[in-house]
Amino acid sequence: MSQLLQGKSALVLGLANRWSIAYTIAKAYRREGANVILTYQGERQKVTVEELAEELGASRVLSCDVTQQADLDRLSEILRAEGEPLRAVVHSIAFANKEDLSRPFLETSRDGYLLAQEISSYSLVAVARAVAPAMAQGGSIITLSYLGATRVMTNYNVMGVAKAALEACVRYLASELGPQNIRVNAISAGPIKTASARGIKDFSKILDRVTETAPLRRPTEAGEVADTAVFLASDLGRGVTGNVLFVDSGYQVMGF
Ligand SMILES: NC(=O)c1ccc[n+]([C@@H]2O[C@H](COP(=O)([O-])OP(=O)(O)OC[C@H]3O[C@@H](n4cnc5c(N)ncnc54)[C@H](O)[C@@H]3O)[C@@H](O)[C@H]2O)c1
Repeated sequence: MSQLLQGKSALVLGLANRWSIAYTIAKAYRREGANVILTYQGERQKVTVEELAEELGASRVLSCDVTQQADLDRLSEILRAEGEPLRAVVHSIAFANKEDLSRPFLETSRDGYLLAQEISSYSLVAVARAVAPAMAQGGSIITLSYLGATRVMTNYNVMGVAKAALEACVRYLASELGPQNIRVNAISAGPIKTASARGIKDFSKILDRVTETAPLRRPTEAGEVADTAVFLASDLGRGVTGNVLFVDSGYQVMGF
């Protein structure tokens, strides 16, 4: 069977461990024949990510903390020097202080608000600027969002506002990068048990609700998100940009 990403180079940011959505996406990209480059956030993750990179057969592992412009500049330089142009970039990164996810939204601290915006939203702009020069033949930039961007989801608070900004960034970036044939989209994933999800109070109640009420009556699997990320990175997705694609068992269409 032909592979959808045969010979394409893909950069995947946001793999921290085996439960990361980025891990499942990197695995699917390898299955489809992509050369995968991974990044890790800092020294604390280095060993784990290098081990997972070896297991996945990733071609390179680079350090990149998205709050550090020097890291992004270095990443940009390395990618431009690679022989093959980059064809796909997955931005699977978010962070907010735990206390800002549990106290009332009204009590969100200024610092906590800015931090969530910087890491979970602005970083897409910074990453897009860093990678675009290496995408000489065009390609696909994909980020991960959640329904809390447009609906009030209990305990999602400051992260919902960051996701709203992230989805707006997708549209503006799609508009500006389109002439270079670079597409920019978000996948809005249903709840999946990962390290980040553990930071959300009563996360298991959210999972139960999806299983009970979503049209497909089951929780979202990381593999379903990864296969959509394959589609968006492949030529099959060539006409899709500026979009938010829901991979959530259909939960978002339901009203009361
Ligand atoms: N798990 C879910 O239910 C769910 C649902 C919808 C969307 N998402 C989104 O999917 C993405 C991936 O999250 P996940 O659930 O796989 O959790 P995860 O904790 O495995 O991944 C989050 C990643 O963000 C990285 N990160 C945080 N700060 C960073 C920084 N300063 N520089 C570089 N990297 C940084 C972490 O190192 C980690 O790899 C996030 O954007 C998240 O909001 C998750």
